[in-house]
Amino acid sequence: MKSILGKKIVLGLSGGIACYKAAELCRLLIKAGAEVQVVMTEAATQFITPVTMQALSNQTVFASQWDARAPNNMAHINLTRQADLVLVAPASADFMAKLLHGQADDLLSLLCLARPMESCPLVLAPAMNREMWQHPATQRNVAQLHEDGSWVLGVGVGEQACGESGDGRMLEPWEIVQEVARVFTPKTLLGHRVLVSAGPTFEALDPVRGITNRSSGKMGYALASAAWLSGADVTLVSGPVGLECPRGVKRVMVESALEMHAAVESFAKQSDVFIATAAVADWRVKQAAVNKIKKTKDSPTPGFEFIQNPDILASVAGGPRAQARALYCVGFAAETQDVAQQTQEKRLSKGVPLMVGNLGPATFGLDDNELLLVDEVGTSHLPRASKEELAQSLIAHIAKSLPAFLRTA
Ligand code: C5P
Repeated sequence: MKSILGKKIVLGLSGGIACYKAAELCRLLIKAGAEVQVVMTEAATQFITPVTMQALSNQTVFASQWDARAPNNMAHINLTRQADLVLVAPASADFMAKLLHGQADDLLSLLCLARPMESCPLVLAPAMNREMWQHPATQRNVAQLHEDGSWVLGVGVGEQACGESGDGRMLEPWEIVQEVARVFTPKTLLGHRVLVSAGPTFEALDPVRGITNRSSGKMGYALASAAWLSGADVTLVSGPVGLECPRGVKRVMVESALEMHAAVESFAKQSDVFIATAAVADWRVKQAAVNKIKKTKDSPTPGFEFIQNPDILASVAGGPRAQARALYCVGFAAETQDVAQQTQEKRLSKGVPLMVGNLGPATFGLDDNELLLVDEVGTSHLPRASKEELAQSLIAHIAKSLPAFLRTA
């Protein structure tokens, strides 16, 4: 993950059963390219051993401010002067209460207080029982920690280790990694609302059968995630895919082109940017059968009359908000040849400021691709890379073009 690559992260564990998730979190941060130094409170060592965390982080774990390994005996200073970020996960109710008061009676709280606030942000991933989370004291502490400049992440909802169910679970490790990536990503789309359509559509033939296509939705999901990382408020209108909803993104699942059209039209009204990556079926059957079409030995092969689906992108790009030039529309052109020319033609015919060309069959279902960006200014090529990296480059391009576009709106 680009924004985490090469970053030095102090991963702090305070006491709580969610410590077991910190092992996976450590592994994911390292997989994303970070260097992880683990620091544990005494309470955390009751839940998971430093041996586990050392093996996963490949660094010896610090658990005491009296650790003689630091030649100057100032581990709290040394560790934070080298760090790009301190992440406390899990952050217990007690640990947050301590931080709030600037108490520093163990190594982890000491280094949170001693870190240079400007260059080393503090991210807290709370984890506790739902009653503890809802308690006014905890909520007050969370609000004040925000005020003091910490990033206090939300909590998950669901079953808790104590057997109760509600708010207070620590976020899943992958969600915390996304939040950390967001802290490191420049907020080039802050204050903007981005709408993304993604995946295939499914056009019913009868209640059990239908026609669809091979779009995986990966590019659209990667774009929604990249827009969120850049500070945007993101809505993803998705056709049927098996992908997890990206962190921070509001997702609306739809099936048919007509459903997608209605959802996109309604959200486009409040958006600044619309990125249409969905592979919308060009046709649907005029009249889907109400009951399952039966096959018997002698039944005739069913025939269907098809009608064209609306072109969602063209209709939104020609809609009132876009006509007032306040909606920056981006289309994707999946071509099989002459990508540059076809993409330019499609850009003009759909009336959108930016059209992204790619070779359709060379990307369906894959994790990487290469793209050609065609706008008023000219053409630029994004060489083959993962869809995640391409999404970040494309979002950067959109963020750069947006102010000039909106000025003329
Ligand atoms: O015309 P074509 O399908 O090649 O255009 C592709 C672009 O138009 C994509 O951005 C796609 O999401 C969008 N599109 C749409 N509604 C359709 C067909 C395409 O929004 N019915």
